Amino acid sequence: MSSGVLVAVGAVEFEAGLLTALEGPSFHVVRRCVDVADLLAAAAAHQAQLAVVSAHLRNLDRDVIARLRQDNVAVVGATAEASSADEAALRRLGLESLVFADDVATLREVLTEAMNDPAAVSVADAWMSVAPSPDDQDFDGQEPRRRGQVIAVWGGSGAPGRSVVSLGLSAELARLRAATLLIDADVFGGAVASMLGMLDETSGLLAAARAANVGALDGESLARHARRVNPALRVLTGLPRADRWTEVKPVLLRHVIDMARSVCAFTVIDCGFSIEIDEEISYDVAAPRRNGATLEAIENADTVVVVGGADPVSLGRLIRALHELSQVVPGATPYVVINRVRDSLGWTESEIVETVARLSGVASVRTLPDDRQACDRALVHGRTLTECAPDAKVTKALRAMAADLAGVSENGGKRRRLARR
Ligand SMILES: Nc1ncnc2c1ncn2[C@@H]1O[C@H](COP(=O)(O)OP(=O)(O)OP(=O)(O)O)[C@@H](O)[C@H]1O
Ligand SMILES: [Mg+2]
Repeated sequence: MSSGVLVAVGAVEFEAGLLTALEGPSFHVVRRCVDVADLLAAAAAHQAQLAVVSAHLRNLDRDVIARLRQDNVAVVGATAEASSADEAALRRLGLESLVFADDVATLREVLTEAMNDPAAVSVADAWMSVAPSPDDQDFDGQEPRRRGQVIAVWGGSGAPGRSVVSLGLSAELARLRAATLLIDADVFGGAVASMLGMLDETSGLLAAARAANVGALDGESLARHARRVNPALRVLTGLPRADRWTEVKPVLLRHVIDMARSVCAFTVIDCGFSIEIDEEISYDVAAPRRNGATLEAIENADTVVVVGGADPVSLGRLIRALHELSQVVPGATPYVVINRVRDSLGWTESEIVETVARLSGVASVRTLPDDRQACDRALVHGRTLTECAPDAKVTKALRAMAADLAGVSENGGKRRRLARR
């Protein structure tokens, strides 16, 4: 089958030759894009599998390249000649696949390679290839982002939306070009794999835990066990059946979290609902602890996102959950998310936030709107909210939350810049 190519090279002499070289049995040019906006729109419409760009395309930056890759478009840079300033500029943007426009044979070869193996970089690079490096041009003069943040997403009973928040937040962190790993560590049964339409029953978490148990867990094996959702986001899928919780031993989960922290900018953990200390229930300290994994995740997290519902029953549970958290893990830093806020409840957003802040003493309280349509669309399509409802209110609220947790501010809707925390 012939692959569609988007050509967006700006005003360069080699464009005509490039267009001719791209016609053949393996490739066809679906669009000559006049600018970055045109290129991104064509990629978002899934018109092509490849994009050829040059350093002369105005406003081409890492963000554009990451967004193309998010839309499953492999990106190849074209230059007129080797060792030129253009080549250096493309490499600075993190483009590994480069071709010289007049070398038709290599051009086809590189395009085929990029198509077949878009992540043709070492595993360590694969984790961090989209994370900004300290010398990144986009972040000039400001501090590089602190790496290796762990965010545990927890909440009490009643399905307040832990998995929706975990996945939504991870996808938005990845959208910030930060290598992100989502670990589904809910010991009552994994949900993230089915939310992403991953039908096979292999559990990335169990595989990683087994590797940790025999001392074989490193960045490379973690990357192998984690399913790739897009260039910046991977997922360690959870338990296929709830009765396999005994295999997620706390000490092994800690090892997985430590490894993830060392290779990813963000590790987000979807946790189970209970943090009750099992020994007190069973009187048997040697017995495996079902809630041990959740406690381990929370104890090792830099931030604990505590999710609760917005209705009176859920708010009561949320306040009790926050109290329980402060008792069981006194060192935890809670970041409260009140989910499914809706007009029919009769309270304004600020009334809910102020009440929860006052009753719990937690300063960071955010809300997410109830958006059945967007959440259902994501579930039915097996995709993230970022992919299938990027402009929905709930997605935008998750985006703001991701920026807040990452210490990044959006600058007038343009290029993102780091803010000092
Ligand atoms: N902001 C929202 N707007 C509308 N529906 C939502 C929202 N957040 C979550 N939901 C829906 O609520 C249900 C429960 O969400 P989710 O699975 O994330 O909860 P959970 O806390 O992970 O529950 P579980 O105990 O099953 O793990 C799902 O059907 C989800 O689509
Ligand atoms: Mg869940």
